[in-house]
Amino acid sequence: MAAEQGTQLSEAQIAVHWREENYYHPPAKFIGQANAADPAIFERFSEQRFPECFKEYADLLTWDAYWHTTLDTSNPPFWKWFVGGRLNASYNCVDRHLATSRNKAAFIWVPELETEETKAITYQELYRRVNEFAALLRDFCGVRVGDRVTFHLPMVPELPVSMLACARLGVVHSEVFGGFSGVACGERIADSGSHILVTMDGYYRNGELIDHKARADEAVAKARDLGAGVDKVLVWRRHPGQYASRSPMVPGRDFFVDDLLRDYRRTVVEPVSMPAEAPLFLMYTSGTTARPKGCQHSTGGYLAYVTGTSKYYQDIHPEDTYWCFADIGWITGHSYIVYGPLSLGTTSVMYEGVPAYPDPGRPWRIAERLGVTIFHTAPTTIRMLRKLGPDEPPKYDYHFKHMTTVGEPIEPDVWRWYHDVVGKGEAVIVDTWWQTENGGFLGSTLPALKPMKPGSCGPGVLGVYPVIYDENGAVVEAGSGRAGNICIRNPWPGIFQTIWGQPERFVQIYYEKYCRNKQSKDWRDWPYFAGDGAVQAADGYFRILGRVDDVINVAGHRLGTKELESASLTVEEIAEAAAVPVMDELRGRAVEMYVSVKPGVAPSRAIEEKVAKAIETEIGKIARPKNIWIVPDMPKTRSGKIMRRVIAAISNFTDVGDTTTLANPGVVDDIRHHVQAEKVGRGEVPRKLSPQEIEEIKAFGRAE
Ligand code: WTA
Repeated sequence: MAAEQGTQLSEAQIAVHWREENYYHPPAKFIGQANAADPAIFERFSEQRFPECFKEYADLLTWDAYWHTTLDTSNPPFWKWFVGGRLNASYNCVDRHLATSRNKAAFIWVPELETEETKAITYQELYRRVNEFAALLRDFCGVRVGDRVTFHLPMVPELPVSMLACARLGVVHSEVFGGFSGVACGERIADSGSHILVTMDGYYRNGELIDHKARADEAVAKARDLGAGVDKVLVWRRHPGQYASRSPMVPGRDFFVDDLLRDYRRTVVEPVSMPAEAPLFLMYTSGTTARPKGCQHSTGGYLAYVTGTSKYYQDIHPEDTYWCFADIGWITGHSYIVYGPLSLGTTSVMYEGVPAYPDPGRPWRIAERLGVTIFHTAPTTIRMLRKLGPDEPPKYDYHFKHMTTVGEPIEPDVWRWYHDVVGKGEAVIVDTWWQTENGGFLGSTLPALKPMKPGSCGPGVLGVYPVIYDENGAVVEAGSGRAGNICIRNPWPGIFQTIWGQPERFVQIYYEKYCRNKQSKDWRDWPYFAGDGAVQAADGYFRILGRVDDVINVAGHRLGTKELESASLTVEEIAEAAAVPVMDELRGRAVEMYVSVKPGVAPSRAIEEKVAKAIETEIGKIARPKNIWIVPDMPKTRSGKIMRRVIAAISNFTDVGDTTTLANPGVVDDIRHHVQAEKVGRGEVPRKLSPQEIEEIKAFGRAE
């Protein structure tokens, strides 16, 4: 770091210039029916009313015992919400709707193959299925309150059923995204200390039935290597009665859920009344180190927060058909496919497959057939659908009243296509900024009450007060045109409780940087550091620039550079590895790996392929690098640190900046000539980058 001073820009020094976008106003038809249409709501959630304002969200739930303290700050930054309250999340998402909506669809599940029938699962059926699976977990697996159970499930109804069954028992679920590798799943099993793995034999992806059970075997083996034993693997079958995997069932360890469930028919499991502060689930995410972090979310605060934000920001009404086109394996799916919408008693669409299968008209056919009114997706999907089928949406007779974008910055141009073509100019859009750690939205416009501005998420949401600080903790003023680190000044009910098993890292990563006084029990002294760079316009709207902590956001998936690098280093021939982001038309960012080989090893295509394979094995296919460059040496500081910003600049054809402080400045030109010549040959020269993108590349790796 010391050797770097002078060349390294802090976020706060970066002046960001872009064209101010024009406002778009919500359609009158939307305003007339919105859940939040009276500006008095801003008053109700004003800072003077904090934290009691969040009673409004908690009151959307059914409590077994009311809480006595809204926010307990006695042990900062381990905030406690709704202390003294008791409730059950499964009861709130299922049982309480039976009286009025027993026969309403909770989920409409759309299989990827169009030849397979769409399935509606009513609240009544969901109730039965959740109870029966809860009974199986309790009586066959012996899990108890507070135990952890890991899932490695794709986008099938069995996933929410499994989640709600755990919630019913007070058991903590930990879903690992279905696209992650067996090894990645095994690491998460070991970290969470769960002894049960719930998986599925196969699922459809691009028309192909994937052998998913094979990954369970790898996961169990990896967990065992890490000293963790898995007692039972519960295997749901994509087609009950028919096993789709080639991997053999291990006697005494592996069981077909559909077989076992016969013994639990009609069994009813009383929902366990849990303290508001009991953990509901873990969701692993990437950060600055190789080890993934298990974000622990609470029961009462989390559920209240996702219910309230689903109501006001997703504008869900009982008669809406809501489709969040995300994977439940990510936080978006937990909060805005499962817990928020079900808590409100909504009908939610769940789709198994990829967006453009078998053609880019598919999402719009689903929307037309099911009468979807609210559509929620990520910029990467929007970009892909725009590229593959720019003229498809008008061919279908659907009408959205509301659309969401989440997970990455959206280019104004892509936003406009979403608004004009996908939304047919009839829908309001919310651009929701938040993170796995946050439980629910942090930045967004309130759809009927604030105009939209393409590329900006908007101000902080109700009861959330963001601020931008520079490196020294001084406030970067709105309208200054300067960027800095976006932080949240106050706690909110959806904030995660800790990193599972690593409370010190929780404090250090998220609170240490801007804590004013470690002794203080006043929340005002403990701003939450989000790890994103941002700029605030004069109107108070935030524009999120991206991560400041060595996380590369690929198609909305957070990949840690350290994880990618340690996966590459599992290849015997590799001496050093560095991961950098490269601008990608569809995925936002893609990963490029730079590796150097050990002495005496000759670079070859085979080694590149080994690195790619290692990354797929350790993390998953989603992390496969766009390019792997074998270089003679990495550009390094005199203290031996790899200068990621220099290679990032080479990959993106931007200025490498001052390299005179490097220990080996000579390698920079060699690498540049080699890499850029190859890229030109492959037609991979990026479009002209925006000033913000150039700054992002310049600043890459500064977190070290
Ligand atoms: C980025 C996803 C710009 C951001 C819910 C954040 C966004 C990271 C937006 C979290 C948005 C998320 N505009 N950037 N609307 N939403 N991000 O944990 O960098 O998978 O820190 O949570 O995605 O990703 P995560």
